[in-house]
Order: sequence, then C-alpha cells, then structure tokens
Amino acid sequence: MSFRIQPQPPARPNRCQLFGPGSNTKLFAKMAASAADVINLDLEDAVAPDDKEQARANVIEAIGAVDWGNKTLSVRINGLDTPWWYRDVVDLLEQCGARLDQIMIPKVGCAGDIYAVDALVTAIETAKGRTKRIGFEVIIESAAGLAHVEEIAAASPRMQAMSLGAADFAASMGMQTTGIGGTQEDYYMLREGQKYWSDPWHWAQTAIVAACRTHGLLPVDGPFGDFSDDEGYRAQARRSATLGMVGKWAIHPKQIALANEVFTPSEDRVAEARAILAAMEEAKRTGAGATVFKGRLVDIASIKQAEVIVKQAELIACGV
Ligand code: COA
Ligand code: MG
Repeated sequence: MSFRIQPQPPARPNRCQLFGPGSNTKLFAKMAASAADVINLDLEDAVAPDDKEQARANVIEAIGAVDWGNKTLSVRINGLDTPWWYRDVVDLLEQCGARLDQIMIPKVGCAGDIYAVDALVTAIETAKGRTKRIGFEVIIESAAGLAHVEEIAAASPRMQAMSLGAADFAASMGMQTTGIGGTQEDYYMLREGQKYWSDPWHWAQTAIVAACRTHGLLPVDGPFGDFSDDEGYRAQARRSATLGMVGKWAIHPKQIALANEVFTPSEDRVAEARAILAAMEEAKRTGAGATVFKGRLVDIASIKQAEVIVKQAELIACGV
C-alpha cells in the first residue's frame, strides 16, 4: 500500500452526460429541462464543417441565455488536429459568461495536448479577469490516448473527468467493428460448440478507471450508438458501473433514464452496504477485524467497498 492517499474525485453527480449538436438550437431548452447531471454542447463531430462557426456562436449565446439549473455545463471543442479548436477556446473563454463549467477535449493523445489547451485557457482567464477556473474533461478515444492515459490524467489540476469514446477508439485501434460500444458479434469464446460473448472494451475501461482513481478524476463510459436497444445500453452501463465508472453518455434523451437507473445505487444495495458497515462496527467492538455477514466473510476491506456505495448514494441524494 502506498503511503499516498488516493485523491477524491469531484464531489458531484455525473451519472448521465447528455450530448446535443451546437448547430441544433432547438434541442438546448430540452437538454436543460432533462434529468441529465451533465450537459455537453457539441462543437466537434456532431457538427458539419460548414456549420462550425454558427454552432460556436449558438453555444456561446445559449450558455448565457438558457437556464441550465444546477447541471454541470460542458462544451466539447474540436480536436487539436483541426483548424477550429483554438478559436473554440478563445471565443468561449472571451465571450461566454461564468455559467460554463468545463471544456471537453476530444481525441487527446498525450499530456502535451492538455498542456497546450491549459496554456491558452490560463492566458485568457487572466487577461479577461475570469475568476472561475474552467475545468477540463477529456475523451480517451485513440491508441495514443490509451497508451498515455495515466500522464493525461495527471496533466493539469483542471482535469475533472475522462470518458471512453468507443467509436473513434475502435477506428484508431483498427478494430473490426462499426458499432458504437456494446457487445461485438465476433468477440466470443467457444466451449463445447457454444459461443460465450466477451467484452472488448474491458481493458480500455479498466485502464481509464485506474488512471482516474489514481489522480482523483471521474471515469465515465461514452456513447452507445443504438438508441433503440435499451437492454444493450443497460448491459453496457452495468458492466461499466461494475468496473468503477460513475456514469455514461446519452446521445438521445431516452438513454438518460437508463443511465440514471444504473448509476444510482439501488435502495437494496445501499441497505446491504449499510448493514455491512453495521456488522463491522459490531465486530470492532468485540475486537475482531473480520466477521460473517449473511454466510460470507467481511473484513476491513469490506468497509471500504461498502463506503463506496453509501458515499455515491449520499452524493447523488444531495446533488440532485
Ligand atoms: N437532447 C435533447 N432532446 C433531444 C435530443 C438531445 N440530444 N435528441 C432528440 N431530442 C428530442 C427531439 O427534439 C424530440 O423532441 P420532441 O418530442 O419535442 O419533438 C424527441 O427528443 C425525440 O427525438 P427523435 O425524433 O427520436 O430523435 P431525432 O431524430 O430528432 O434526433 C439524433 C436523433 C440522434 C440526431 C439526436 O438525438 C441527436 O442529435 N443526438 C445527439 C448527437 C450528438 O450530440 N452526438 C455527439 C456525441 S457522440
Ligand atoms: Mg469521438
């Protein structure tokens, strides 16, 4: 065990991040009225090249004009490999008010990418006398992003969250799929003639969770493209929650309730976690470090596991 204490991630709910293209102004009020914890106004891949400037202007206007309630408000800028990103940052930071909470940087490949955006944002904040520091969230969606995931997590005190972007990640890795997340038909084990499907996103997700937990960020699962497949979304989200992720994107409003359902610990699970804590309190009183709970061993590590669930439930209860 390292003597360094694991840092806590930002204490706010992040069960669902709802996306909408900056070019589609009709969606903004609907997004604000939704049950998503985080709103991501998009300037990147949901906006066609010819619409980039108009989308940027729309988003700057909407940040001030729409009542976003207590949601975390984030804008996804264009990637650092495009001609648009610097103007996204400059115009957002120079022109929009203090309501903006975060910038989402897509397709990050190394810590230097974060440094570059940080330098620009810091200069503008100082020049304009902005007192609220803009946070960063990033998408890990390339081979380089995953190879450098830990240095990216550590790259700036502005860093708040990391998402896995399954579609761009699959393309960058050369994966044989056109699906956006979820089960992949050809990723199976064979036993006695029976197929058993496995999870091709598991390693990437676990690497992201480890980097985030090491540096006090929120690990988030990205998009699930087939918004007609509720059960597929649920299954993907449950796997992500099991691995330690705190939330998932919604690319259509019908996915919001699914994310909130999966990433809000159930009453049964919270009650069981509280019962484990009570059993361990009792064990401590009798001088024992371990005890039996419903026929299974619980010990000091179980306290930490139970506390994860109780803390998450408490955070959600006071944050929404
Ligand atoms: N946020 C809020 N409301 C949304 C929405 C969103 N992202 N997407 C659709 N809606 C609304 C529609 O306006 C419609 O509202 P209405 O009932 O008042 O008319 C309702 O939800 C049903 O929409 P539907 O007709 O099923 O979808 P659509 O064809 O209008 O839009 C998409 C489908 C996928 C184009 C749209 O959901 C979208 O743009 N999603 C976000 C894409 C994105 O940002 N991608 C980047 C991240 S990967
Ligand atoms: Mg992408």
